[in-house]
Amino acid sequence: MQYYQHLIEAIGNTPLVKLNKVTKGIPGTILAKVEYFNPGNSIKDRIALKMIEDAEKAGILKPGGTIIEGTSGNTGMGLALVAIAKGYKCIFTVSDKQSQEKINVLRALGAEVVVCPTNVPPDDPRSYYSVAKKLNREIPNSFYPNQYDNLSNKQAHYETTGPEIWQQTEGKITHFAAGVGTGGTISGTAQYLKEQNPNVFVLGIDTYGSVFKKYHETGIFDENEIYPYLTEGIGEDILPKNVDFSLIDRFVKVTDKDAALMTRRLAREEGLFVGWSCGAAVHGALEYARDHMKEDDVMVIILPDHGTRYLNKIYNDDWMRDHGFLERRDFATARDIIRSKGNSRLITIQEKQTVGEAVALMLKEGISQLPVVDENGHFTGSLSESKLLHKLIENPELRQTAIREVMDPPFKFVGMDNTLDVLSSLLDKENKALLVRDENNQVHIITQADLLMALAK
Ligand SMILES: Cc1ncc(COP(=O)(O)O)c(C=O)c1O
Repeated sequence: MQYYQHLIEAIGNTPLVKLNKVTKGIPGTILAKVEYFNPGNSIKDRIALKMIEDAEKAGILKPGGTIIEGTSGNTGMGLALVAIAKGYKCIFTVSDKQSQEKINVLRALGAEVVVCPTNVPPDDPRSYYSVAKKLNREIPNSFYPNQYDNLSNKQAHYETTGPEIWQQTEGKITHFAAGVGTGGTISGTAQYLKEQNPNVFVLGIDTYGSVFKKYHETGIFDENEIYPYLTEGIGEDILPKNVDFSLIDRFVKVTDKDAALMTRRLAREEGLFVGWSCGAAVHGALEYARDHMKEDDVMVIILPDHGTRYLNKIYNDDWMRDHGFLERRDFATARDIIRSKGNSRLITIQEKQTVGEAVALMLKEGISQLPVVDENGHFTGSLSESKLLHKLIENPELRQTAIREVMDPPFKFVGMDNTLDVLSSLLDKENKALLVRDENNQVHIITQADLLMALAK
């Protein structure tokens, strides 16, 4: 029998998957290391296990102890799973920018979650860093893993992520790209890879609103670089000990919008339903690869987590529009469509005229739909090219018949302010056109061709 003693033994050994569509036109082989295959659906399972095992070895964490961490969710998930396996309690402090889904998942795994404000400096007593530290001081037999400064984080990647990538690429990796939050992923993996081959190029992905890129390039910790941003998991307003800047060759910054749009493309074009920072990593990595990679190069990009936790954010079209990340589709109205057709006169035919006359009129005017009126100008019926054709094939004699004998019900009237999506839902095989009465009592016709024309603009 092949089985694990506990779920946590399934951590690591995640697959490398080639990106095929979003990489079009970019030279080289670009591979994603898909970390949602971990049991907690993120790369953080790796560090959770390592931090707890190292604390146990050091005698810091004893049976029945409580694990307290400031976490954006993924590390909490990993810690919660490991805590269940090993019999510890968990308390997590998270910032209020985190998705509700992430918080709910932590609670589902039996953890206590304390939500703290985002827009306060890290040393403010209300910040999630400070609250975690305070709880650690106050609760006896508690362990504060502190993923930012605990070097077991970096070590986990040195021992697992790095060797896996080296083996999976048979040592052919030339470029390694990862988002930088605590810095554990990039530093631990890069250290292992560079020990195997010092020429592996290491690209760090940062966000606008974070200090990393400027600090790396100038050595200046610039407070002015710090402002609120939305991408979860990467970028910082502190310099965590796990970031080893000497192992990172270059940083690129990616906007919240570019990250969100690329994440959605990864889902739709690659089938990779991943988290927001994955889009940031891929967008930034491809921007670099486009200009610097050669055909024989092999790049590995870390995709840290799964898309479920972002369903109400970047995978929600309304949320995307509200944040200006997707164009708001303001549909044209009936009024716009009529205006764009110019001052065209409505062509009608009298119900007492013959089918032959109707056909002649349609051919002469080049129209496929014809409203039918009585002596008083009231709309009493309609004719459409396709239906007339069928009727005439069945009975060619119909040409002499009065229109009133063969006509269909009149076209429906709609309001001037109905939008294109509503108008199109009213048109089908039976209803080939719509009528609109303007403020001057003039009647206009809107056909499927008019809607297509408006959409194409
Ligand atoms: C979703 C997500 N992406 C990326 C990262 C960054 O990885 P690291 O903290 O190892 O730098 C994190 C870490 O918090 C994360 O949660």
